Amino acid sequence: MAKPYGTTDIKASALELIGNTPLVALDRIWPGPGRILAKCEFMNPGASIKDRSSLSMIQRALNSGKLKPNGPIVEVTSGNQGCGLAVVAAVLKHPLTLTMSAGNSPQRASMMRALGAKVVLAPQVEGKPGYVTLADVTQAENLGLKLVADTGAYYVNQFNNEDNPKGHEEHMGPEIWRQTGGHIDVFVATVGTAGTFVGVSRYLKKQNKDIKCVVVEPEGAQVIKGDPVTKPMHVLQGSGYGKVPQLFKFETMDFTVGVSDAEAIQYKNLLAEKEGLYMGYTSGANVAAAVRLLKSGKVPKDAWIVTLLNDSGLKYPADN
Ligand SMILES: Cc1ncc(COP(=O)(O)O)c(C=O)c1O
Repeated sequence: MAKPYGTTDIKASALELIGNTPLVALDRIWPGPGRILAKCEFMNPGASIKDRSSLSMIQRALNSGKLKPNGPIVEVTSGNQGCGLAVVAAVLKHPLTLTMSAGNSPQRASMMRALGAKVVLAPQVEGKPGYVTLADVTQAENLGLKLVADTGAYYVNQFNNEDNPKGHEEHMGPEIWRQTGGHIDVFVATVGTAGTFVGVSRYLKKQNKDIKCVVVEPEGAQVIKGDPVTKPMHVLQGSGYGKVPQLFKFETMDFTVGVSDAEAIQYKNLLAEKEGLYMGYTSGANVAAAVRLLKSGKVPKDAWIVTLLNDSGLKYPADN
């Protein structure tokens, strides 16, 4: 008897919605010559680039036995790693506690709570709401470490966890290579933990060593460039912490570009107005840097630049 239904196309859970994001051409912001292509990381279920590393770190911790099935998890976050982990923890049924600086966006805290995580906010010691410094992150980290010591929960430790870049090397890098048909001259990205930049750059350089991999840093906190920090407060939440991250590997980078708050905001607005893409600040910074590179002659005029739309504008206060 013939089957009554056709073949199905159903994802087993939200975990299967992580990754495989589309690549969109920003031809209205940059009509050419050259091209700016952007990975739509806001389309992950946690609405940011950090879902990928969340899945990679939790899956590998479960596989190695460091994390027990349904065991408790603790992490320190600027909000996006927390949202990604909360997606994974909800599906796999792990109790999750997240510590975050009170200066990070309240929208992220709401989303993490809605996904079932417990959120503990650390008061700011230096910055102000929307501007989170290394000292503020350290405060949140100390709270997280105390929770780990008190409860014995599994500590994800995104800033020191090698499974963070691995997830990007195994998935995001190959996706970009496939989506561009290998036509990529430059990769441009901000750096928080460096998981994304290091993982993707490592993969791309293995395919073609001539691909230029460029770090985007906030002006006044260009530590990867080698400059001293003169302005620890900036709008690029989730990146530019004023300290070279533990996971950063200089051999994966060719050079850096500095972006001001004004430029990041200008391109955040242009993404919305010209491309119909309502994004956060680091996405604006990435596109600002790509435009700067094409205008400066630092890359060939006809270069194809791939960059990232890291998170949704909905993750920030509306008029910030
Ligand atoms: C909005 C945003 N952009 C960029 C990054 C940087 O990603 P990574 O930690 O992989 O360097 C983060 C990290 O939290 C982020 O939240």
